[in-house]
Amino acid sequence: MTKKLVAGNWKLNGSLAANAELVADIASAPEVALVDCAVCVPYPYLAQLQAMLDGTAVALGAQNVSEFARGAYTGEVSASMLAEFACCYVIVGHSERRALFAEQDEQVGRKAAAALAAGLTPVVCVGETLEERDAGLVMQVIGRQLDAVGSVLDANALSRIVVAYEPVWAIGSGRSASVAQVVEVHEGIRAWLVRHCEAPAGVRILYGGSVKPDNAAELFAAAEVDGGLIGGASLVARDFLAICRAAAIQS
Ligand code: 13P
Repeated sequence: MTKKLVAGNWKLNGSLAANAELVADIASAPEVALVDCAVCVPYPYLAQLQAMLDGTAVALGAQNVSEFARGAYTGEVSASMLAEFACCYVIVGHSERRALFAEQDEQVGRKAAAALAAGLTPVVCVGETLEERDAGLVMQVIGRQLDAVGSVLDANALSRIVVAYEPVWAIGSGRSASVAQVVEVHEGIRAWLVRHCEAPAGVRILYGGSVKPDNAAELFAAAEVDGGLIGGASLVARDFLAICRAAAIQS
């Protein structure tokens, strides 16, 4: 594995003015070129970001995509539409979409397939709730989530995804998983990839959940962690760049 991937997930945040300020600070900073860097933004800002990121080292991504290519699906956005705005990545199956918008395991697989068909890299999110962790079900839950994606994607397609391990209890809580917990789950995900992918070594496994400047270095120091999916800290240029620096040092 070469460079780590650091992707910001802006979630439901931003405005034309705030984005312009944030991206001006991030896109020209030298540290973003030392990692593979992306920002996943709300749909209405794709055109703004496409223009601002053109010629920079920061790639563009979205936070969701329709499983459908076209047709009577009011409110949906297709992968080919995202590709038209130079999106390289799209997050699928984020736990907030699973929990708040009732996204199902198989649907996440179909969204990943739609992304790949349009030339985008899906960032497939998996992770357990605190209740599931306390019940000792971590790898069972993640195995189920991955199996559903594997039931839609073949071994070749599975080699072209990114996996993000995001324990639900660590998201937005200020309580990151420990390095040992992350390494254990990433090893389990890697073992699943080895069983199901044509080229498992090339699949990046990111960690997400309260990654901040003060814990990024220890998380990225683990060889099993190929990068991070960053929520809150991706909205603060200084913090996001500090996380990119931490990833660059460990690449
Ligand atoms: P926080 O970094 O805010 O915990 O969010 C993580 C996340 O959900 C990224 O997708």
